[in-house]
Amino acid sequence: MCRFVFPGDTNHLGTLYGGTLMAWMDSAAAVAGVRRAGSVAVVTAAVDRLEFRVAIREGELVELVARVDSVGRTSMQVVVEAHREDPAGHTRELCTTGVFTMVALGADGRPTAVRD
Ligand SMILES: CC(C)(COP(=O)(O)OP(=O)(O)OC[C@H]1O[C@@H](n2cnc3c(N)ncnc32)[C@H](O)[C@@H]1OP(=O)(O)O)[C@@H](O)C(=O)NCCC(=O)NCCS
Repeated sequence: MCRFVFPGDTNHLGTLYGGTLMAWMDSAAAVAGVRRAGSVAVVTAAVDRLEFRVAIREGELVELVARVDSVGRTSMQVVVEAHREDPAGHTRELCTTGVFTMVALGADGRPTAVRD
């Protein structure tokens, strides 16, 4: 997923608000989890090791890369990276990482086995 950082996405320092970036990363993790589970009924159970290493500025492009790292019975560990790019596309830098635990739900709303 790619997002531009608009003025409404930033804090008083002119950099991307952390809560907004977390929401974007959660969305990317959900897409990866939904694809792996083969169902849209996937929820976020936990977020670990969220590290904001480099600030992202207004006007930059953010690329979110999410991949399923491992699968349990009903849960999936999804590693998400946020990279910043200048809009001309000449530079790309890893800024934020996190590990999202996504859980597949059945029709009863309870955790259900992720397909093989
Ligand atoms: C996530 C949720 C479905 C887990 O329900 P639960 O009754 O605790 O389910 P279980 O104990 O059977 O755990 C299900 C799986 O989730 C994992 N899990 C549950 N809580 C976890 C946590 N805090 N951290 C890591 N993994 C967790 C379990 O290890 C298990 O994995 P496995 O089946 O691969 O071994 C439930 O807590 C829930 O609905 N939470 C709210 C989710 C939500 O609203 N998210 C935000 C919006 S998407």
